[in-house]
Amino acid sequence: MTGQTERLAIDGGRSIAPYKIPISRVRINRMERDLVDQVMRNGTLREGQLTKQFSEDFAKYSGAQYGSAVNSGTAALFLAYCAVFPKGSEVLVSNFTHVSTASMLVASGLKPKLVDTDEDTYLITCEAAEKSRSAATKGVVPVHLFGEPVQIRKISEFVSDYHLKVVYDAAQAHGALCDGTPVGFFGDASCYSFYPTKNMTTGEGGMVVTQDSGVFERIELLKNQGQSSKYWHTAIGYNFRMSEMQSALGRGQLQSLEEFNMKRRANAKKLSDAISKLEGLHPQEVPPNVFHVFHQYSLKVDLGRFKMDRDGIVAALEAENVSCGVHYPHALSQQPIFSQLPKTKLPNSEALSKMIFSIPVHPHLSEKELDWEIQALTKVVYAYYK
Ligand SMILES: Cc1ncc(COP(=O)(O)O)c(C=O)c1O
Repeated sequence: MTGQTERLAIDGGRSIAPYKIPISRVRINRMERDLVDQVMRNGTLREGQLTKQFSEDFAKYSGAQYGSAVNSGTAALFLAYCAVFPKGSEVLVSNFTHVSTASMLVASGLKPKLVDTDEDTYLITCEAAEKSRSAATKGVVPVHLFGEPVQIRKISEFVSDYHLKVVYDAAQAHGALCDGTPVGFFGDASCYSFYPTKNMTTGEGGMVVTQDSGVFERIELLKNQGQSSKYWHTAIGYNFRMSEMQSALGRGQLQSLEEFNMKRRANAKKLSDAISKLEGLHPQEVPPNVFHVFHQYSLKVDLGRFKMDRDGIVAALEAENVSCGVHYPHALSQQPIFSQLPKTKLPNSEALSKMIFSIPVHPHLSEKELDWEIQALTKVVYAYYK
């Protein structure tokens, strides 16, 4: 059924929200515009002092000693993998994540091995990692998906038991905590993205944070043409630098991050309270020891309990003017680029790709928009629950 047909089917065409509520909204405030404008006026546009300050401030905020700013989360992952994992080694990675978490393993000459996710948190667990691990495994990449940290204490025991290296994909987890500690404190490195929909943005951008000066220095070298001193190149490197304009915006956004995250959490709480009264929808489960920062508010549809599938529910919500996302419509094991990887059983993550969708939770939702969103969810569940 199309969205239009759904809308007519519910109530003759009148949507709950009078206009489309977007899944994300970017707002750049006056102070941030002024910071970028100052860079434009002073004329130093390439990486410089502001990038250094932004890297230091973000690393400190994330619980790490060093930060290396780059021009995307993808670049951050690529460089961290090059700096942390032994060359050519096998690395465990979540089967339910953004493509770059695993594609950058391939790009950096490593061998990804997919790990199934938990049904309710959508995150990898040590039990699942243990099932995928082999004698050749040298590393693991857990993902703090949608802003929810993995169980880091258990992962740390797992990596220490088997002498593995660990890089966390924290692209969606700015400000997230596990057992009260910022997630960037842990592991050999953590990688963030500052893409516009993220909890904070630099336009495009990313950051690797680490406690290890050796990893930091290697990443700084690789991101800047392998140049150890001016026009002296000691490694094959890249240009993955962040510009001063991006860093100026990042410094401004970092000041608003706490407030944005608290708003995301308050919005998520309202959504969860409302959804707990509805049949057939299951939000991402959140263990009590983590501080989730709700990059996305994701939930599962109880397939078989509705008169339509996930795409039908999404179309019905869209017809009510609530934009939805599907993160992600395919598990990595279902992607053509990973078809050569050894086939293993990954039932939870493959099933999840058919059930999951996201609804707006961003900090710029008004009270009214949040109410409309809840009314639309309620209306759709009442109309289509069997
Ligand atoms: C989990 C995850 N990892 C990595 C990335 C890549 O970040 P970027 O888009 O900044 O390259 C993203 C971006 O969406 C992501 O969500």
